[in-house]
Amino acid sequence: MPDFQTSPGMRDILAPESARWRALNEVFAEVAGLAGYELIVPPLMEDLGVFTRIGEATDVVTKEMYDFVDKGDRHVALRPEQTASVCRAFVQHRPVTPWKAWYSGPNFRYEKPQRGRYRQFDQVGIEVLGADDPYVDVEVIQLGWEFLSRLGLQQVVLLVNSLGEPDDRARYVDALRLHFDAAGESLSEQSRMTLQKNPLRVLDSKREQDREIVAAAPTIDQFWSDDAAEHFATVQSGLRDLRVPFTLDMKLVRGLDYYRRTAFEFAGGTLDSAQNALGGGGRYDGLVEDLGGPPTPGIGFALGVDRILIACDDEGVFGAPGTAVDAFVVDTTGGREALLITAELRAAGVAADRAFENRSMKAQMKAANRSGAPVAVIVGTDELDAGTVTVRPMRGDGEQVAVARTNLVPELRQRLAAVTTQESPQ
Ligand code: HAM
Repeated sequence: MPDFQTSPGMRDILAPESARWRALNEVFAEVAGLAGYELIVPPLMEDLGVFTRIGEATDVVTKEMYDFVDKGDRHVALRPEQTASVCRAFVQHRPVTPWKAWYSGPNFRYEKPQRGRYRQFDQVGIEVLGADDPYVDVEVIQLGWEFLSRLGLQQVVLLVNSLGEPDDRARYVDALRLHFDAAGESLSEQSRMTLQKNPLRVLDSKREQDREIVAAAPTIDQFWSDDAAEHFATVQSGLRDLRVPFTLDMKLVRGLDYYRRTAFEFAGGTLDSAQNALGGGGRYDGLVEDLGGPPTPGIGFALGVDRILIACDDEGVFGAPGTAVDAFVVDTTGGREALLITAELRAAGVAADRAFENRSMKAQMKAANRSGAPVAVIVGTDELDAGTVTVRPMRGDGEQVAVARTNLVPELRQRLAAVTTQESPQ
């Protein structure tokens, strides 16, 4: 065992998984960019107070925060999510509204590590600040759906709900408290504890003992104000217009306290139910104000990259893209020619790798094979004297040919184009 390994719940993402990671981010950047969202890169660490605004009653804040006092006596925390940071950035920079931002990066929560639940995990997400229009909600939800569809996921279920205006929500919380109090000891001990802190979260209980009591609980729609009901009706009709399939889930409350009105979740079809949320989001119209800004509506979502890739594995979609170079240069004259040729190829946009340490021809050919490159470019003393290189196909049954050094780039381009068309016949 080495002296040091990654901390619990933290992982190294190595190739080929890292290539998939990057490809996923590229798909997300494309989907967000097509809709006019601009990248924001907030810091990993903020004043603790930025995150306590997420809600004093959420585990994310009370139990899972990586917080500490820094050398300047500031109480800071590693971000557990990015919505609060985006809102803090909005208050700090006051961009023109509607402000449409997307992000991608790691977050930290001190959770019990298990499949799909880590202490450092990545999210991609978007936030829109300064627009109350229900069609913004539709745009945001549709973009999440579009992204997951582009990855090829087909078993995702979109759950939507409205948590009403703050007053509606408060009355609903009172009604839930009454309902669950009345159940007394029939409710599981854990849920009775949750009830003290946050009656809404009791609805999330998956415990068998709570099942019937939760099923009989009042639903939020009985508490919606006319405005909240109308907003939500428009959101639903917009989703239907865009043919985004969704399921109404009146018990969907989400884990963070800041949600108002629209809330939604993308549930994976293949993960354990405790980890099956691939992502989610909703409106958080009070958060900017809580962070010292003007009253500003906001909505967004975040999707868990780690969980999405597990779901992709389970569904057999979005495999790792190839990372092989285009050409592997084998140099038996000492290594300088490989230095020159790889530099020339790379400058021309041809991905090239080589061996080092003046290994034998056999060892270099083995490395060329392992690299997955479709062609090897070989230089020995004969080639060097003649001003040529040997281009040898590493796959298929093509012949190796001698090519003038000056003609190497066009020759390789032609060969690589032929390889690409063979691999994708359209
Ligand atoms: P969240 O539901 O806390 O929402 O997290 C969103 C997603 O991040 C989860 O559905 C899950 O896929 C992933 N995730 C959360 N915790 C972990 C973990 N420990 N390990 C692996 N993946 C995890 C938010 O973070 C809100 N900021 C979403 C939002 C944006 N609401 C409005 N705008």
